[in-house]
Amino acid sequence: MSVSSAPVSTGYPNLDALLPRLEAISALTAEALEAEQIAILGRKSGLLTAALKSLAALPVEERKRYGAAVNQLKVRFETAFAGRAEALEADRRVREAAGVDLSMPGRRRWVGAEHPVTKVVDEILGIFRELGFAIATGPEVETEWYNFLALNFPADHPAMDMHDTLYLDAPPAAGEPGGKLLLRTHTSPVQIRTLLASPPPVRVVIPGMVYRNDAMDASHLPAFSQIEGLAVDEGISFVDLKATLTHFAHRFFSPTTRTRFRPSFFPFTEPSAEMDVECQLCHGNGCPACKGTGWMEILGCGMVHPAVLENCNLDSEKFTGWAFGMGPHRIVLLRYGVPDIRLLLGGDMRFLEQVGQPGGGGGGRDA
Ligand code: PHE
Repeated sequence: MSVSSAPVSTGYPNLDALLPRLEAISALTAEALEAEQIAILGRKSGLLTAALKSLAALPVEERKRYGAAVNQLKVRFETAFAGRAEALEADRRVREAAGVDLSMPGRRRWVGAEHPVTKVVDEILGIFRELGFAIATGPEVETEWYNFLALNFPADHPAMDMHDTLYLDAPPAAGEPGGKLLLRTHTSPVQIRTLLASPPPVRVVIPGMVYRNDAMDASHLPAFSQIEGLAVDEGISFVDLKATLTHFAHRFFSPTTRTRFRPSFFPFTEPSAEMDVECQLCHGNGCPACKGTGWMEILGCGMVHPAVLENCNLDSEKFTGWAFGMGPHRIVLLRYGVPDIRLLLGGDMRFLEQVGQPGGGGGGRDA
């Protein structure tokens, strides 16, 4: 409801404009209250004081109407100021009685931080995103066909054994190709899903959890993370693989980190390799963490096997590609010199604070 409109003559305060300030009084602090009292009712330059002073210059009719409105509003302000002052004083007395000492420093708050594995995964994905790789994901429950057979594992491969892989009792959904359901043992089945879904050129990184029938110890977990990489196009060679993964190591570890590739074997890549980076703790001199070798293995990789391309209905004479798989849990151990992978599963803040912040060190707490 409007208290009055400003007089016809210009230059008089618009009383309606003061209403929000009247409303706000009940939330003012003691200092703000004092300042507001001076601003509105102050003898020298208070807004309402000025309005009253200006009345004399108005024609009689206007003076009556406007003067009454100003006086009314003044009373409302006075009441509100007094009410707020009383409330603040009552508050102060309650606190005093309860022995609350407002000058005491506040308690530090616990502030969350990203888990080191999450942080490393995001960082790795970020580096590949800079290179134009998209992110793909796939299901953690897979069929034998996606997890093994399409990836060129022979049907009697030991990884398919119940001792190494966690199988599910449930039957696969109708229409899914191939065999029993299992918890995927690696992120490589998403290579197949990606190539079946979209024709080359393909450049993807694939983060996710994988599961193996392994007992937990200092270097093994039955459930851990992987990041897969896949690039398929015309004319891709081992040079692309080496250059990209070396660039990755330089971005992720340091620009001077040395890398090396050792021959290896995976059914779905040919040739296959293992990539090592210079030990991040001893810088190649040899220490217990790298078992005296000066090197740390960080990933498996290789040229996509022609049989895998053919299983995805691609002409292996026309297309080539490379792939890699790495384990972020392991990479956290290497990067921060963590001696036991199980530390990554516990919620021990003393440990997480050491590796929870950029570059290690620092804590998840407010200062
Ligand atoms: N899937 C492999 C593993 O889990 C890693 C890998 C991925 C190797 C892609 C080569 C190419 O060990």
